Formats: sequence, C-alpha cells, structure tokens
Amino acid sequence: MRTDTPQAIYRKDYTPPSYWVNTVEMGFDLDPDLTRVATRMTLSRNIGSRGKSLVLYGESLELVQLRMNGKEVGKRGYTLGNGVLEIFNVPAEVTLDIETALRPNQNTSLMGLYTSNGNFFTQCEAEGFRKITFFPDRPDVMATYKVMLRADKDKYPVLLSNGNLIEEGDLGDGRHYAVWEDPFKKPSYLFALVAGQLVCQEETYKLQSGREVLLQVWVEEGNLDKTQHAMDSLKNSIRWDEERFGLELDLDRFMIVAVGDFNMGAMENKGLNIFNTKFVLANPRIATDADYAGIESVVGHEYFHNWTGNRVTCRDWFQLSLKEGLTVFRDQEFSADLIGTDSGRAVKRIEDVRVLRQAQFPEDAGPMAHPVRPDSYVEINNFYTVTIYEKGSEVVRMYQTLLGRDGFRKGMDLYFQRHDGQAVTCDDFRAAMADAGGRDLSQFELWYSQAGTPRVKVETRYDEVAQSYMITLTQSCPPTPGQPNKLPFHIPVAVGLLDSGGRDMPLVLDSVEGGDDRSVAPTTMVLELTEPSQTFHFRNVREEPVPSVLRNFSAPVILDIEYTDAQLAFLMANDSDAFNRWEAGQRLAMRRMLALTEAVKNGEALDRNADENALGAAFRATLTDNALDPAFCELALTLPSESVVAEQMDVVHPQAIHQVRRFLRRALASALRFQWEVAYQSNRTPGAYSPDPVSAGKRGLKNLALSYIVELDDGDAHKLAQSQYDNANNMTDRIAALSALVNSNAPGKDAALASFYEDFKQEALVVDKWFSLQAMARHTDVAAVRELMNHPAFSLRNPNRARSLIFSFCNGNPAQFHAPDGSGYEFWADQVIALNTINPQVAARLARSLDRWRKYAPELQDRMRAALQRVAATKSLSKDVHEVISKSLAH
Ligand code: TRP
Ligand code: ZN
Repeated sequence: MRTDTPQAIYRKDYTPPSYWVNTVEMGFDLDPDLTRVATRMTLSRNIGSRGKSLVLYGESLELVQLRMNGKEVGKRGYTLGNGVLEIFNVPAEVTLDIETALRPNQNTSLMGLYTSNGNFFTQCEAEGFRKITFFPDRPDVMATYKVMLRADKDKYPVLLSNGNLIEEGDLGDGRHYAVWEDPFKKPSYLFALVAGQLVCQEETYKLQSGREVLLQVWVEEGNLDKTQHAMDSLKNSIRWDEERFGLELDLDRFMIVAVGDFNMGAMENKGLNIFNTKFVLANPRIATDADYAGIESVVGHEYFHNWTGNRVTCRDWFQLSLKEGLTVFRDQEFSADLIGTDSGRAVKRIEDVRVLRQAQFPEDAGPMAHPVRPDSYVEINNFYTVTIYEKGSEVVRMYQTLLGRDGFRKGMDLYFQRHDGQAVTCDDFRAAMADAGGRDLSQFELWYSQAGTPRVKVETRYDEVAQSYMITLTQSCPPTPGQPNKLPFHIPVAVGLLDSGGRDMPLVLDSVEGGDDRSVAPTTMVLELTEPSQTFHFRNVREEPVPSVLRNFSAPVILDIEYTDAQLAFLMANDSDAFNRWEAGQRLAMRRMLALTEAVKNGEALDRNADENALGAAFRATLTDNALDPAFCELALTLPSESVVAEQMDVVHPQAIHQVRRFLRRALASALRFQWEVAYQSNRTPGAYSPDPVSAGKRGLKNLALSYIVELDDGDAHKLAQSQYDNANNMTDRIAALSALVNSNAPGKDAALASFYEDFKQEALVVDKWFSLQAMARHTDVAAVRELMNHPAFSLRNPNRARSLIFSFCNGNPAQFHAPDGSGYEFWADQVIALNTINPQVAARLARSLDRWRKYAPELQDRMRAALQRVAATKSLSKDVHEVISKSLAH
C-alpha cells in the first residue's frame, strides 16, 4: 500500500544486474503465524560493475539477520527502505546469509508464501519471491536452488519444492523435513513450495527416449476422484511436445498441485506446477465440457512453459509475451492437434478468435492499450493481459503462417539451440525465426512495438476481358495512448476465390512466373501486405469470384470488406475455409443487430416478421445441413455477444443491444422452432458421459437449441428444460438446463436453484457456477447481487468466489450492470475498494470493468466517472488499482 504516486518503469532503462547469483540454499521453518526463512546464496559481481552496490528486493518481510562471508553486516553497510535492500562494498565473490520472518496466515494477496485451507503454497511470478526473502528478484538472475522444508509432521505431512527429492526424515520433536534440489538454473519467479495435508494420484510414464518419469497430481483429500483428466492431459502434453517440437521433459519428476485460493489460472514453477482447482478437478458430476477443455489447455500451457519460459526465460518483464504468447500458441496448437479433424481444428480456431475479439480488441481500443512488448508499466501484475497472451499468440501464429509449419519448427529449433539456459528478449525470438527461415522480418517488429488493432480494407475489381481479378488491401491503425501515429505492419492475408458454384478457384498471381504451368495451383494463398496499400493481380480468373479473405484469421486485424447479404449467405454455405464460413454468418448477424439497435435507439418498434430474412434463411440452412459438425453449428448459430456488438458502436447503449439480441433470438426461436426441436432430439448423448469433442459438440448444439426454445417461454419449453434438469447425468446438461430455467419464467426455477445448491454445496467449484449463473441471469439486478453477497457461502477473500459473483455481474450482465441510475457503478466501486485491501491483483482486474467508460452515452459516462473518481480518492490505494484507475480517467 502506498501514499505517494507510483513510478513507472521503462523498458529503455534496462540495465544488467550488478551481481549474478550462482547458488541458493534455503531453509524454511514453516509456521502459519510466523515462518522463518534462512537463505544462503553465492554471488559473483557482473563485469563492469566494480564499485556498484548489491541491490536486493524485499516486501512485507522482517529482516532478522544479514551476513556477508560469515560476518554480520553493520548498520552502515546497507540501507533498507521502500522494498529495496542495498548493500555496499560487496566483494567480487561473496556468500550472503539472510534470515527473514514472514506471516503466511495474514497474507491475503496470495503472492509469496500464503496459506489456503490450512496448507502452505507459494506464488512467485512476477515479483512474489521478494515476499519470502531479500533477493535480486528479476528474471535475468538465474540460479540453482536447494531447499530444506521443516514443519509439523501431523499438520504438514507433505513437503514439496522444485526438482528432485534428495532427502527426508524426522526431526524428533513431532516435526519432519524434506530436502529438494533443482538441477536447472532458474529465475526466482519459478521457485515454489507446497506443504500440508494433500494426497496424490501418481503414475510412471515412459518418454520416447525410454526414460521413465514420475507424474503426480496433488489435491486435498476427497478430491482423488477428480484428478484423472488432469493426469491424462499431462501425459498428452508430454507426448505432444516430443512429437511436434522434439522437446523432452527434463526432470525425473513432474508435479501438479491444486489450490482453491489462487489469483489466476495456474503457474509453471519448475517441476512443481501450482494450479487453481478450477483447472485440475473434474468428473462428470461437477465439471462441464468447457471445464474439461479448459483443464486440458491449462495443463498443456503450464507443461509447455517448461521449455518456453523456464529453460529459455525472459530477460525482463517487458518480454513477458516471449513466454506467454508463445506458450498460448503452443497450447492452442496442442488442443487443435488432439481434436485432430479439420472441422474440430476450425472450431478451436473460432473459439480462440472469439476470445481475442471479445476481450483483446476492446483492450487494444481502450485506455489500457499496450503493445505486445510494452514500453512501460507501473505494476507488472497489470500486464498479464489478453494482449500479452492472446494477441501475443496471434503474433507467434503469424510466423508460422509466413514461414510454414516446417519453417516455424526450424525457427524454434534454432531458438533453443541459441538460447537454452538464457534469459532473452522478443527480438531474440524474431531473429531465430528470421535466420532459420532466411527471411527479413525487421518490419515484423512493429507487431511488438505498436499497440492497437490494425484495420485492413479490401477492394476488388474484376476485368472480364483480361480474365483478371485485383484485390487491393489498404491498412491503417488507430492511435493508442502514447502512440498517435503508426507505421504499416507486415500482415499475412490468406485469401481464396470462390466460383459461382461455391468451389475454390485455382489461384495464379500475376507476379509469380510460370504459375500457369503448375499442375496444381493452390486454392489459398498468403498475400503479404507490407505497404500502406497494395494491389494483388490474379490471372486466368474465368468469372467474377466471391473473395474469401483472411482465411483461418491469418492476422489479428479488423477486416473492412463490403459483401451483400446474398454473398455472405453464399460464403456461409460454401466457403471451404470453415473459419470464414462462420465469419460470414457472424457478419450477417452483426449487420442485422446493428440495424435493429439503431431502430431501438430511434424509438422504433421491432417487427417480428421482418426477421425471416437473410439471417433466418442462413440459420435455417446451417441448422438443417446434416453434413455439418454439431460443434461448428453451435458456433455458427450463436449470435455475436452483447459486448462484441457494443465494440462496433460509437456510442454504446447496453439495454438496446440486450433488447435486440433477445428479440432476434426469439424471432429465430419461433421461426425455426421445429428445427430446434429436431436438433435437440438428434444431438442427445445417451449413455455414460464422455468429454470427447464429438460428444461435447453434440451437447453444445443440443443445449443451444434448448436455450433458443426456452426463449419462447411457454409450457412446453419449460417442461423440456425441467426434464433435462431432472434427468441430467452430467454437469454440462444440468447447468445448461438450470440456466435455461433461471432465464425464463418457468414455475420450477426457484426450486431448481435451491436444490442445485443443496446438492452441490460441498463442491466449491460448483457453488462458483451457482453464483455465476445467477449473476449473469437476465432478471438479476444490482440489489439481487448485493443480496447474494450476504449468502453464507460468499466470500471476497477467495478469488474464484469473488469472480463468480462480482466479475460475472460486472462483465457478464451488461444490461443490468449499466442500469441508468448508476447503481451498478456504485456497486463496482464498493467492491474495488473492498478488494483493494484484501488482494490488489484481483481488485485491479475488477477495476478494468469500467475502462471503456468513454464509449457510453453521456449520462452513463457521468455516473461512471463519478465511480472512478471515488475509487481514485480512496486512501492507501494499491499500485495495481491506482494504475488502472488513473489510466482510465486519463484517456
Ligand atoms: N505464468 C502464469 C501462466 O501463464 C500466470 C501467472 C502469472 C500467475 N502471474 C501469476 C498465476 C500470479 C498466478 C498468480 O500460466
Ligand atoms: Zn503462461
């Protein structure tokens, strides 16, 4: 907590550390009230650092003892203040002994060492290690660690840390110990320990090389029936990284531990990944298909960090996307490869792009917009963003699009060959890609340095006489905070051309010599847009085609392209690129939603009959096309979300958007009722539950059909939902039915909500779902959310629980949150202020819910500004919240 104005840190100010740490030995006496930590480290002065002091960071710590080469450092030998311990006159080679004391039970920030349900856990990324001991806590300082844990044997029977267990035993006095050694050099943010009453599922697994490794998934007693999927996901991850990237697990033991109090999804600590329970625990009773998929991708993500993040790490936190963007790309490819089918891959791609558009595009257009490699930050925790992760992944994906899969693999190989064991930069990664591919990727750097979502405008011209077709691409990028003008990006634009029969035409670019002679001309081509505007000429084009542009979403841009409704319906029905087939439907729906929202704003009545139009016909065609994969149908038949529609408007009217989306859903429900019923019946998945993509896709479409049918709110619809609720044998169907009931006027809805709670009150993750479903329900207003906060199961201290109710309401129920009287904003401010003292990181996430306030109607803006100013005026605001609020008010 602070009283001054927090200072920004700049990328340009990077300087190497004055000392390197070689070895670290730590002894922990674990006690929830007062833990003592003795650290011995050996350091060597960096070249060119003679005369410089040694800088160590420490926060929320008591310094008990400080010795240099065995001798106590006197009061004149160091200064301590503002989280920095500076030691003077340090020799070139030195051994430092530091003893610290800390209070895990009082640590509600969940950074550093803390307790959760009586057990000990750590979270050190980004700067949590400094809450354990004084240390040069920066990622370019890499050392080997040996750790001894001592604790009461009954209360803490399990003692875990990174690497290999080399010794354990009794201490006599009811206490015991364990010694762990991590043979690999690592930055301090990858340190971890876990101690407490936990049990594990374990297996030995044989690597391709024949070496056997021990895999463990640790959970609280009573959860061993929920670990199989995480274990399977881990084995799949290990195999996938061997096959796709030739990367082997380097340790003999790999552990995953689940904890119920956790700020984010999971953490890739070397050999000891710590996970939010949400991304470990699953069985059919408590977890949905989406939960199963989430577990697979997060287990993969953290495992893949072992190479992209741990073996090769970041020089400084500005390079965060070096590991996060790359690792998200790897987990996305992993999930896609596991599905295997073309259609399944497309579904995964659409889902990933949906996240990007729903969350990252708004970030890139708002006051917190920042480049994939930021130039400055106040609090690094605020930069674990969708830009760093998801846009970062898109940037990595573009290398693969430009270099090809094999070229990309060569680049990865070179990257590891050059940088294994090092702390490096995004430029190093780009250089490896460029050198391996023999390509000039200097312009590509702009994807790292410029914020904002580029727009690409498409214009076409067909010359019938010359049988030529021209595509002109023109790029621009809007200003973002601190970046008024942008240079042109290097943008890969994948295109195809459809003939009037809906088939792909062979593509022959005028600039490519001998293209005609090729026996098989490609049907998708990657055009490289590097200038502000470029025209590409295709020849031998027999008829005027319908262009399919930005296939598979080949770049994270907004495409401005004019299609008629008929062309969109044609693409939706015919494009060989499944992503663009989906995209065409979304464009069609978006066009209609924007027109209707305009009508509502002008006070016009919405006309039901007008909706058996291009959209109704296109949806009907999709819904009745038996050749389509159900998972794809579900995505294609889902209207753009309210927040995605909002993004398209200059002045957002949340209630108008909500009204229109419901209106359209009801129109589609009644126009296609019979087809929805058929889809419902034909996509049932009888028998034992399995989360495989085919079954999950069927359930997805069936439950989408249910949600449309229930829009009609009649007795038959209620009966269908109620019977699904009563008969469900898995959480996917149960929660979908409950949601359908709660969002309708079904007579059984209150009873269903109550019985759901009774049935699952022992399952924290399901209670989260119960809160979240209510927070996002149509009828839930601010008063109802405040009421839910009084429920005995509610707690602000547990991040999952806080997210389930408060974040779900503020981010997932826009029509109620943006109540015209501003009551939603007052609620928001109350909760940001309350969370600020408990957990600044979580508070700052919630603070972001108002960062697009300038996009709303003036009356709403005034009320949002008032709420923002109330938070800004709060005493002892954390750096985290202060940064978000002050940037929101400034831009
Ligand atoms: N590096 C982690 C990941 O991407 C995320 C992470 C960063 C994190 N900081 C954290 C998780 C703090 C929990 C708490 O997978
Ligand atoms: Zn990560």
